[in-house]
Amino acid sequence: MANTPILLTLMLSILLTFTSIIIPSFSCPIHQKQALLHFKSTLTSIYNSKYSDKFVELDSWNSTSNCCSWERVNCSTTGSVTELQLSGVATPPPPDFEQVPISSDILTPLFHIRSLERLDISFNYFEGEIPGDGFGNLTKLLHLDMWENNFNGSIPSQLFQLTNLRYLDMSSNSLEGKLGPELASFRKLTTLRLFDNRFQGPIPAQLFALESLQHLDLSDNKLEGPLSPEIGKLRNLEILTPIFLIRSLEVLDISVNFF
Ligand SMILES: *[C@@H]1O[C@H](CO)[C@@H](O)[C@H](O)[C@H]1NC(C)=O
Ligand SMILES: *[C@@H]1O[C@H](CO)[C@@H](O)[C@H](O)[C@H]1NC(C)=O
Ligand SMILES: *[C@@H]1O[C@H](CO)[C@@H](O)[C@H](O)[C@H]1NC(C)=O
Ligand SMILES: *[C@@H]1O[C@H](CO)[C@@H](O)[C@H](O)[C@H]1NC(C)=O
Repeated sequence: MANTPILLTLMLSILLTFTSIIIPSFSCPIHQKQALLHFKSTLTSIYNSKYSDKFVELDSWNSTSNCCSWERVNCSTTGSVTELQLSGVATPPPPDFEQVPISSDILTPLFHIRSLERLDISFNYFEGEIPGDGFGNLTKLLHLDMWENNFNGSIPSQLFQLTNLRYLDMSSNSLEGKLGPELASFRKLTTLRLFDNRFQGPIPAQLFALESLQHLDLSDNKLEGPLSPEIGKLRNLEILTPIFLIRSLEVLDISVNFF
């Protein structure tokens, strides 16, 4: 009787060993691994040319291991890369803080990872225009966060091909131009954050047809003109600005614009 727990433990460990053998552990596709290593080597060489400290981020990204086991990377059950969490990856740790200018070209290899569903490149101060052709490739994206970079120019038309997006944050960049009717293609969006840019002109009525929208932040831009009564169509939103307090809207921040 006293042996029962030991016996159980033994059986359990045999079972676990057996299970780990029969469940294959999928490795990420070689071209996805190479794309990630390419991104890392560009970043490392830019960083090391500027700072005396060795680049320490992405240490786990090495060519001998499965990229699904790397930090900041998640894969599907079949081993394709679905998530990259690259927030602040190019930002030097204190006490440096001074940012090396990094062109948005650095993102090029990532556009070959078509299985991506979540991509966070916030807080990297990447500069230049948003690479439209590249992002247009990532049609599986559900979540795209580009907050706090130095992207300039207007929103490239290819971005509107990402019709599965639920979450889009392009806040705190230097983006300009009008917000066009193309916004209507983001049918599934629940969050749209564009604050702290240089967008101008009126808010297109098509924005108010995005029925799933729950969070909208257009503040700190140069948007202007009368606010369309269509705004009342956004039943899932809650407007929280002092000027426009309308029924069930969750968060709509359009302060510091020129209405
Ligand atoms: C690569 O990473 C794995 C685990 O992440 C580690 O065991 C291995 O030693 C690393 N290889 C090299 C060459 O650094
Ligand atoms: C990956 O998945 C784990 C477990 O679900 C989660 O905690 C983590 O935030 C995900 N993202 C990254 C980039 O590791
Ligand atoms: C889009 O993906 C295809 C296939 O992976 C690739 O050949 C092409 O270069 C990608 N386009 C861009 C702009 O990255
Ligand atoms: C964006 O910034 C880059 C420099 O980072 C500059 O060469 C380019 O002309 C700018 N583009 C626009 C549309 O302002």
